[in-house]
Amino acid sequence: MEYTKNNTLSEIVRDDFRASRVFEKHGLDFCCNGKRPLGEACVEKGLNAEAIIGEIKNEMSNTERPDEDFEKIDLDELVEHIVNTHHGYIKRILPTLNTFANKVLNAHGKNHPELERVTELYHQVEAELTSHMFKEENVLFPFISKMADIKRMGGALTSIPFGSVRNPIAMMEAEHDSAGNAFHEMRAITDNFRIPDDACNTFRSFYGELNNFELDLHKHIHLENNILHPRAIALETELVS
Ligand SMILES: [Fe+2]
Ligand SMILES: [Fe+2]
Repeated sequence: MEYTKNNTLSEIVRDDFRASRVFEKHGLDFCCNGKRPLGEACVEKGLNAEAIIGEIKNEMSNTERPDEDFEKIDLDELVEHIVNTHHGYIKRILPTLNTFANKVLNAHGKNHPELERVTELYHQVEAELTSHMFKEENVLFPFISKMADIKRMGGALTSIPFGSVRNPIAMMEAEHDSAGNAFHEMRAITDNFRIPDDACNTFRSFYGELNNFELDLHKHIHLENNILHPRAIALETELVS
């Protein structure tokens, strides 16, 4: 696909996820805030859209296209992938991050007053994502998987427990915004998780892991907001008409 500044960020990453590397580098939000034209997002950041498109082309000619195609697989498979890969990772890493947050605040809070807010935001994200994933795994995802099953096996979608799948989706996307904003603030007050000279190993690991966590969260939210949710809405429309 040939991109222009009129394509939205989410269309571009849906077409080829390698574009996300360029977006990450320039702090262009393609997951929570991806449904707007590249041109508009670039103006806001003082970037040149043509140059960004050039960088994306460059990235594509220098790297292999990932072989995962989330546009074509059945939605229950996509749900399974999200749960196994991204929810699995979050559940594994949260206890470690929690320990790091408490230790780092105790040891370095005096010299680095921003740590108080960083750890507060971290604990907020931890609590919110835990309940968020619970809702996805117990309410939204089972419904989406059921629709995928009906699509494959035939049959009718007789009851939609929450009126329309659009309702829980709107709630999940609002919660994604909240996590996205928390990371945005953490980045702003830590100069992009810059490790201070007097940091101990735990401090280094804490910021390093927060950085990895955010990257994974971007891919995770991209798969939900940009692929799973629009496909689930389209499937619901198809099944009820
Ligand atoms: Fe999720
Ligand atoms: Fe989510």
